[in-house]
Amino acid sequence: MSKVKAGNRPEKVLVTGGAGYIGAHTVKALSEAGYHVTVFDDLSRGHPEHIPGIPLIIGLMEDDKALMDVFESHEFDAVIHFAGESQAGESVTKPDKYFRRNIIGGLNLCSAMVRKGVNKLVFSSSAAVYGDPEEIPITEEAPVRPKSPYGESKAFLEKALAWYDHAYGLKSVSLRYFNAAGADPGSTIGEDHEPETHLIPLVLRAIATHTPLTVYGDDYPTPDGTAIRDYVHVTDLAEAHVRALDFLRNNNRSLVLNLGSGKGYSVLEIIREAERVTGKKAPYTVGKRREGDPAVLVASSDKAAQVLGWKPRLSSLEDIISTAWAWHAKNGLS
Ligand SMILES: NC(=O)c1ccc[n+]([C@@H]2O[C@H](COP(=O)([O-])OP(=O)(O)OC[C@H]3O[C@@H](n4cnc5c(N)ncnc54)[C@H](O)[C@@H]3O)[C@@H](O)[C@H]2O)c1
Repeated sequence: MSKVKAGNRPEKVLVTGGAGYIGAHTVKALSEAGYHVTVFDDLSRGHPEHIPGIPLIIGLMEDDKALMDVFESHEFDAVIHFAGESQAGESVTKPDKYFRRNIIGGLNLCSAMVRKGVNKLVFSSSAAVYGDPEEIPITEEAPVRPKSPYGESKAFLEKALAWYDHAYGLKSVSLRYFNAAGADPGSTIGEDHEPETHLIPLVLRAIATHTPLTVYGDDYPTPDGTAIRDYVHVTDLAEAHVRALDFLRNNNRSLVLNLGSGKGYSVLEIIREAERVTGKKAPYTVGKRREGDPAVLVASSDKAAQVLGWKPRLSSLEDIISTAWAWHAKNGLS
């Protein structure tokens, strides 16, 4: 990965939500690449111990004054925006929470950036913008038809960013992640959500605690009847953010990119691989499908490969599960 160019002063980057799962892995990658990082996070789901030595400002994205104060008292060259709510299922019953935190929070950030002339932004979008895809693998040209307030909030901000570029020259890279998974290979940071809704940590918890996991639906039109998803290692995602910042430093245009491994695995395949990697049984029961869960979501990341030179290096299922298991084992899984 490229270091910030010698001779240039180090770029100063604000990372919102930088104490969260993908954020903390990205903060580590940015620091290693030579960027000077400041984190803004309300710690609702973040872990300050995952960003040791990094300046942390505790605040809410919805608090426009607090956010403006941060821009008044610091100088930034760029922003990476992770902060937000991210449970599609919950968003269906709590749209107000998702629109306030994700849309109002995101717009507050854009306003502060425009007012202070900060014109580079990397935004955490999501595969949730696609809803039920017509074709697999999903390319960036696929229709944007979100099926949840969460997906709507991401799609809205992507569209708003296009207008911020048009009117104010704010250049952005919106990264549509598929399923982030795995942990830092050194096991210093990893996934720690409460409640946890992501499949791989839930399978590992089922293994560690002998408590059955619920598989939501085994009647999908897939080879084994369970839903298929694209899992991408969080360290690969972190690297893509550094590359996206490098892109914005060297190009004067905005982009939307998918980030996935390009391979799909069913829920049962994940369970089997977790059993193989850990050498232990994963107990599970089968429940009903969850409303709005598509059968198959697999990314084409060809555009990210072409534009950013990004290729996932750690996104084999074995690497994802073994790094997640090592992290959970080190940190006492329960
Ligand atoms: N994890 C995934 O598989 C995945 C997939 C697609 C998109 N995303 C998006 O990536 C981003 C990061 O995801 P993650 O899994 O690291 O989530 P996370 O919950 O671990 O991290 C989010 C961080 O933002 C902070 N935060 C949340 N709302 C805030 C607010 N209103 N003000 C200030 N801080 C706030 C939290 O405390 C947390 O530290 C999110 O925007 C999410 O929607 C994640």
